[in-house]
Amino acid sequence: MVVLTGAGASADSGVPTFRDAQTGLWAQFRPQELATPEAFVANPERVWQWYAWRRELISKVEPNAGHYALARLQRHVGQLTVITQNVDGLHQRAGSTDVVEFHGNIFVNQCFAESVVLQSSELEDGEPPQCRRCGSAVRPGVVWFGESIPAAALDQALQATTQCDVFIAAGTAAEVYPAAGLLAQAGEQDALTVEINPEATAISDAADIVVRARCAVALPTLVEQLIVE
Ligand code: APR
Repeated sequence: MVVLTGAGASADSGVPTFRDAQTGLWAQFRPQELATPEAFVANPERVWQWYAWRRELISKVEPNAGHYALARLQRHVGQLTVITQNVDGLHQRAGSTDVVEFHGNIFVNQCFAESVVLQSSELEDGEPPQCRRCGSAVRPGVVWFGESIPAAALDQALQATTQCDVFIAAGTAAEVYPAAGLLAQAGEQDALTVEINPEATAISDAADIVVRARCAVALPTLVEQLIVE
């Protein structure tokens, strides 16, 4: 099985989705204006502060029933790969393994110039911090608009997608590629494809089964039906 998750899977934990309006100081910006290399070069402090605000928000939330249901299901099926577009690490906190972080992880620090992951001991304080190795600004280890998916993550996701029997897209608007193309790709391999989302999306028509419900409701219900313990 493959489960592709988007921001909607974390919405029930209190993490705003990308289509939710930003709040407070950040209401005046759209994520597309902050989550880009150009925005970081133009105003590193502002972009860094936005991620610091999101890290703070995410560190205060807990995985929800949908995350826990997927972790439980994984223990009962041959192989379940979670491909997540979310950068919040909530699937892992709920106990899921074999998680492909398609867009990286917000808590990882990376040297902007060298694109290498930095340990906290390699950071010089600042907003943004500076890389102790080369002096460049430090950025979060997430994939920004216009950047490519890390090769290892893309390869793992494509492998799982082409081999799966069941592909579930849960909580994603399916508007950002290549993630948005994975359900159709699974369908081409004759996998059963399912969408879980309270609203229609660009991939609803391609899915064999559409479940118009929130992840925190649909996933536990599905797992209850599937697992005979
Ligand atoms: N359960 C299931 N789906 C939900 C829920 C919920 N509780 N709440 C909202 N949704 C759905 C919305 O209907 C919408 O289709 O989740 C989707 C959220 O869409 P986006 O905010 O666009 O998030 P996502 O699809 O993950 O965006 C993909 O785009 O912004 C970039 O890199 C960013 O990873 C992100 C990517």
